[in-house]
Amino acid sequence: MGILSGKRGIVFGIANERSYAWFIAQSLRQQGAEIIFTYLPMGKMEHRVGKAIEALGIQNPWLKPCDVNSDASLDEVFSAIKADFGTLDFVVHSVAFADKDYLKPDMFHKTPRQVYKDAVDTSAYTLLAMAQRCVSMELMPSGGSIVSLTYYGGEKVTPGYNVMGIAKAALEHTTRYLAFELGSRNIRVNTISAGPFKTLAGAGVGGMDDMIRYQEFASSMKRCNTGEEVGDTAAYLLSSLSSGVTGETIHVDAGFSIVGVPPKAETPGIPGK
Ligand SMILES: NC(=O)c1ccc[n+]([C@@H]2O[C@H](COP(=O)([O-])OP(=O)(O)OC[C@H]3O[C@@H](n4cnc5c(N)ncnc54)[C@H](O)[C@@H]3O)[C@@H](O)[C@H]2O)c1
Repeated sequence: MGILSGKRGIVFGIANERSYAWFIAQSLRQQGAEIIFTYLPMGKMEHRVGKAIEALGIQNPWLKPCDVNSDASLDEVFSAIKADFGTLDFVVHSVAFADKDYLKPDMFHKTPRQVYKDAVDTSAYTLLAMAQRCVSMELMPSGGSIVSLTYYGGEKVTPGYNVMGIAKAALEHTTRYLAFELGSRNIRVNTISAGPFKTLAGAGVGGMDDMIRYQEFASSMKRCNTGEEVGDTAAYLLSSLSSGVTGETIHVDAGFSIVGVPPKAETPGIPGK
């Protein structure tokens, strides 16, 4: 028995075994959840995602293609869920995209209109699009929980994070507006602000190594968070243990975001000093 025993939900965003979504699925499974999955229909993704799910110990998973930028593709997936299961208890949105040519220092002011629109569409609007289908298709008739992934660069300027920071700011506020409107339906919406992590998407952000080094130096706990810590927080947010929590941005960053003035480089205890 785990805190998610008897609950069923969908995880969007596994690309491989380094994905934050993979660590989330691992924790959800450990807590007894039944999980269904999608993959981005591109290249060898179906095979890669299938392998990553297999590594979770899940055989013959419910795994469907879904390009979250396409309303038709989202409709297809959510209709299939309705037909196959009737209801859902949770949704994990762990999806983001921005053109990496513009995720470099001094490139934000050069961002073209379409790059800006695409980043916000894929990384923020799609949370609304998923919540919308949960409501309109009555997939969560007695309530549910929706969780997404964000980063501190949506709150404060992080050189190189650029237009993705704009998308994360939109995602975090979309979380609050959705939480307010869906609250009376007992559907909760929260986002996890996770620290920098070397994933496929993470590797596209210019300065990722600096972000990791800086978090190790300046965070309260003098380290980066792990994927498991993000997974366990998602399990809590998707379970009834967090039944009174909605609209929140929960930081899983080893106490990085609470620090206003970082310690001096010569402060004892700083790694590498
Ligand atoms: N890696 C980090 O440093 C970090 C830090 C904080 C938050 N996050 C967030 O975590 C989430 C997951 O990213 P990750 O770091 O695990 O990288 P990842 O590359 O493993 O996951 C990103 C996923 O988004 C999917 N995706 C992109 N465009 C899509 C589309 N149009 N349709 C369907 N799927 C699409 C990819 O297929 C991939 O599975 C993202 O929201 C990311 O911004 C990452």
